[in-house]
Amino acid sequence: KEGDSVLIQPPVYYPFFEVIRDNNRKIVESPLLLTDGHYEIDFDDLEEKIASQNVKLFLLCSPHNPVGRVWTKEELQKLGELCDRYHVFVVSDEIHCDFAFPEHPHTIFAKACPQLEEKMILCTAPSKTFNLAGLQVSNIWVPGKEVRDRFKAEINAAGYSQLNALGLIACQAAYENGGEWLEQCQAYLRENLKVLRSFLKERLPKIRLIEPEGTYFAWLDCSGLGLSDTALENLIAHQAKLWLDGGSVFDKKSGQFERIVLACTKKTLLQALTQLEAACRGRNS
Ligand SMILES: Cc1ncc(COP(=O)(O)O)c(C=O)c1O
Repeated sequence: KEGDSVLIQPPVYYPFFEVIRDNNRKIVESPLLLTDGHYEIDFDDLEEKIASQNVKLFLLCSPHNPVGRVWTKEELQKLGELCDRYHVFVVSDEIHCDFAFPEHPHTIFAKACPQLEEKMILCTAPSKTFNLAGLQVSNIWVPGKEVRDRFKAEINAAGYSQLNALGLIACQAAYENGGEWLEQCQAYLRENLKVLRSFLKERLPKIRLIEPEGTYFAWLDCSGLGLSDTALENLIAHQAKLWLDGGSVFDKKSGQFERIVLACTKKTLLQALTQLEAACRGRNS
């Protein structure tokens, strides 16, 4: 209902903030904790926020954009127990699930927390996995019948019940026949991550890579450069001439971070990193 509280975990995909605001709901933030280069859920804070702010809905990003965590089954179960105890509905955005690295397998929220079946919506899409965003297809899985009926009624009322026909066919074709292509794509992305890792280590050691467990992003801690948030943005955009996503759009406290997308050719990635290196050297000379 309007005015209800919705919980999110910054730094997080920034449209989460916008969609809550645009629907006249209240944003409740339970920030992730960064410890030794690894982001974790602060379960004490999460419970305190849920209880004190009367949270009704939890918008979960799983795997998490931009920090690249793939939540473990145990973490998801713990989240689920809290949501169950405090009657919080969960919308689990799992759009990056196909990009979980093999050593960090993705757990579907419904598998971790079957007890919440009536109180969850799961979202995936072929848009990222198969680069089909322009065809506007997503998979919204609503296991509970009552919620599903209400969801359908809302979608009909919004005049959005009909899928783009090309999108539907593309989605089906991608899931049925795109397995091999996806495996190659995932391998390529892993190579790009290696390229980034070694470039940073050898040529930009002041920028720290937050090791992702999935997704095609890398979240970079640039605080070692010793710049203000504004000077960092200036360096990236005007000196390195790159369009990365500045951390502050994901979280007001993450202005020292940058998100780089690795879903590009190795050549493009190397060119971007070379420009970044030149900009950093230019500052120091
Ligand atoms: C976590 C998350 N959810 C949703 C979306 C939106 O995806 P689409 O463009 O397919 O609507 C994105 C895109 O970046 C995302 O990262």
